Amino acid sequence: MGERRILLIVGGGIAAYKSLELVRLLAAENVRTRAILTAAGAQFVTPLSLGALTQDKVYRDLFDLTDEAEMGHIELSRQADLVVVAPATADLMARAANGLANDLATTALLATDKPVMMAPAMNVRMWEHAATQRNLAQLKADGVTFVGPDDGAMACGEFGPGRMAEPAAIRDAVMAFYAHRGVGAGVAATGARPLQGRRILVTAGPTIEPIDPVRFLSNRSSGKQGFAIAAELAKLGADVRLVAGPVGLDNPSGVTVTRVETAAQMLGACQAALPADAAVCVAAVADWRPAAVAATKLKKTKTGLPAITLAENPDILATLSAPGPNRPRLVVGFAAETDDVEAHARAKLARKGCDWIVANDVSGDVMGGDANEVAIVTAAGVERWPRAPKGAVAARLAHAIAAALA
Ligand code: C5P
Repeated sequence: MGERRILLIVGGGIAAYKSLELVRLLAAENVRTRAILTAAGAQFVTPLSLGALTQDKVYRDLFDLTDEAEMGHIELSRQADLVVVAPATADLMARAANGLANDLATTALLATDKPVMMAPAMNVRMWEHAATQRNLAQLKADGVTFVGPDDGAMACGEFGPGRMAEPAAIRDAVMAFYAHRGVGAGVAATGARPLQGRRILVTAGPTIEPIDPVRFLSNRSSGKQGFAIAAELAKLGADVRLVAGPVGLDNPSGVTVTRVETAAQMLGACQAALPADAAVCVAAVADWRPAAVAATKLKKTKTGLPAITLAENPDILATLSAPGPNRPRLVVGFAAETDDVEAHARAKLARKGCDWIVANDVSGDVMGGDANEVAIVTAAGVERWPRAPKGAVAARLAHAIAAALA
């Protein structure tokens, strides 16, 4: 493989500082970055800091004759494998969507013959504005792929979608692009649908285990993380089979969903979805169920309390991980722990026989909340990911799965 090189266009937004981190993360993966800094971008990061990280000249002005003598804008736009726009501001998206070429950044976007990936960053109202959504649809139709934006608190004090994806998520998207470059043709080669043709099983939500016709044992799992993972895998082109316990979430688009109640039903639905290339067990399966389900509602009596004897539920993750012709190539489990998170995750990896454990600390507000901080534990070691919205964690995990299955 030759040298890997991207062209990074840094637009003008408060998120521009995160692009410096992106350059560093890509360098660690042996991807070199050449950068174009827009005039607005230069209000947020200096050419000096960007140049120090890229160890290269930073390109800024379309009419800088020295630049033209050294390298024309056409060549600049084509000698990279991929053009990454981060942050992609509302203005940059608008100009790119309309084919304007009034500065070096937009000229490069118009002249390039390489795939373009954008990481939008803007105020939530600007993101939701009909004009931006129109530009987004146009850019997608033109073949541009997108990372983010994430939901969350913004520099301007508002809350909602518009935050630029974390540098690590953009790095993962770039690495997924490289992992799939040359696989298939057309869209697959752009990294947009690297999981095309793969089937992935995902479990999500709690299970409920009946005591009698009206009562059950269960837990507080919201299903949000599992549904987000299913959605992100589908976006990458996978044939996703989501087996979900009772949760109040809509079916993610493009995902085949089977709704179940008990662990036994969940196991049956999972086995029916095999063979699969990967399985991601996110469900908080109840560990126990009442050994016998009363046929009629238990009644209060004066003679004493009902005794509920428990039986152990099947371990779906361990069952799917067991060697056999139908074992998915990659089995991913989750570990929700409140203490000694990584040590427990490592033990769980061995006990369950899966390939990765996504460990999270649930001592805070993870259950039912919108953010998650995870560590990926594999036989090779541990990778800690920064706290991020569940959607961003899901996107990064989906890209990591795509890379592993490549
Ligand atoms: O053993 P523990 O419940 O902590 O393991 C968590 C992991 O195992 C999660 O991936 C969960 O989806 C999976 N699991 C399962 N079936 C069970 C219990 C847990 O698939 N009965």
